[in-house]
Amino acid sequence: MENCVTVHDQQTTSQSASLQEELLAGLRATPKTIPPKFFYDWKGSELFNLICEQPEYYPTRTEEAILHGFSKDIARLIGDDGILIELGSGASRKIRLLLEAMRPVSYLGIDISRDFLIESTQRLAADYPWLEVHAACADFSQPLQIPGAVRGKRPVAFFPGSSIGNFSPLDAEGFLNELGSLLPPGSGLLIGVDLIKDEAILNAAYNDAKGVTAAFNLNLLNRLCKEFDAVVDPDSFSHRAFYNVEQSRIEMHLVSKVSQSITVSGESFDFEEGETLHTENSYKYSVDGFQALALRGGFHPRALWTDPENLFSIHYLERV
Ligand code: AVJ
Repeated sequence: MENCVTVHDQQTTSQSASLQEELLAGLRATPKTIPPKFFYDWKGSELFNLICEQPEYYPTRTEEAILHGFSKDIARLIGDDGILIELGSGASRKIRLLLEAMRPVSYLGIDISRDFLIESTQRLAADYPWLEVHAACADFSQPLQIPGAVRGKRPVAFFPGSSIGNFSPLDAEGFLNELGSLLPPGSGLLIGVDLIKDEAILNAAYNDAKGVTAAFNLNLLNRLCKEFDAVVDPDSFSHRAFYNVEQSRIEMHLVSKVSQSITVSGESFDFEEGETLHTENSYKYSVDGFQALALRGGFHPRALWTDPENLFSIHYLERV
C-alpha cells in the first residue's frame, strides 16, 4: 500500500475567531501592524516559495548548501530512530537533505498553511516509503503539542529558514522555552538563523528586482478581502522593506499611497497618505548573540555550521 500522511488538526473554530481578533487588534494599534503569519494563505505560501528562488534572496540556497555539505555530521549528532519535527515545514524541501542521512522513524511537519502542508507532506510520504509521515496544522506562536500517535524514541526539532527571526529577541527566548517544555531534556534542536551582514545584501534580499517580495507583501491585502471581509484596493498600497540597523532587523511595511479608509470585518480604519501597516520583522543575529539567546531560552549551543561567506548559520542546540 502507498505510504500516506496522518493529519492532526490543531486549528479549531475558536482559533479562527481569535485570528480575526488578533488581526483587528493590530489594525487598531498605533502604528498599525499585522502579524506575518497572515501572509501564508495558499497564494502566499506559493509566493514565498518563489521568493526563495530569487537571486537576491540568499537565505534558502545558503541554508540548503550548508545542510547538503554537512548532512553526515548533522545526522551523526542527531542520531537515528528519532522523531524529526519540522516547524514551519512549508514545501518540505529542506528536510529531504536530512532524511536520507538521518533515517528517523517518523517525521512530523507543522505548518500554519493547512492545504499546503498536506500536499507537501503527501509528496514526502510518496518519496520516502520507509518513513512514517504526520502533519499538524498549527500556529507555532501558540502552545504546541506532539500528537500521541507519532512513533519514535527521541524527538529532534528542526526549525529552518530563520523563521525564528519573525519573533522579537524576547519572544524568541520565550518560544525556545515553550519548545523546550515539549521536548525531554537532552533533545536536540537544529535551527537556521540568518546572520547580520552588509546592509546592501539585506536590503536587496527583501527588494528583489522581479518584485516577488512586493507581491508577497501585497497579497496580504487580497487575503484580507477573501477571508476577513475586507474592502481595500491593493493598488492603493506599496511595498517597503528596509534594514533597521539599531534593531538588527528587516522591516516590511505596506505604505498607503493616499489618504483613505479601509474596512476589515465591518470595522473601518483610516490611513493618512504615507502611513504604513507594519507586516513583518525579520531579525538578524551574530553567532554569539544567538547562542546567548539560546542559553536564555534553555538550550545549550552544541554545534554550529556556516557558509564560507558567513551569510547564514545553522545551530545545533541541546535542551538543558
Ligand atoms: C520565512 C520569516 C524566514 O524573514 O526572510 C521573506 C519571510 N519575508 N521575504 C524572512 C520573508 C520576505 C522569511 N521568513
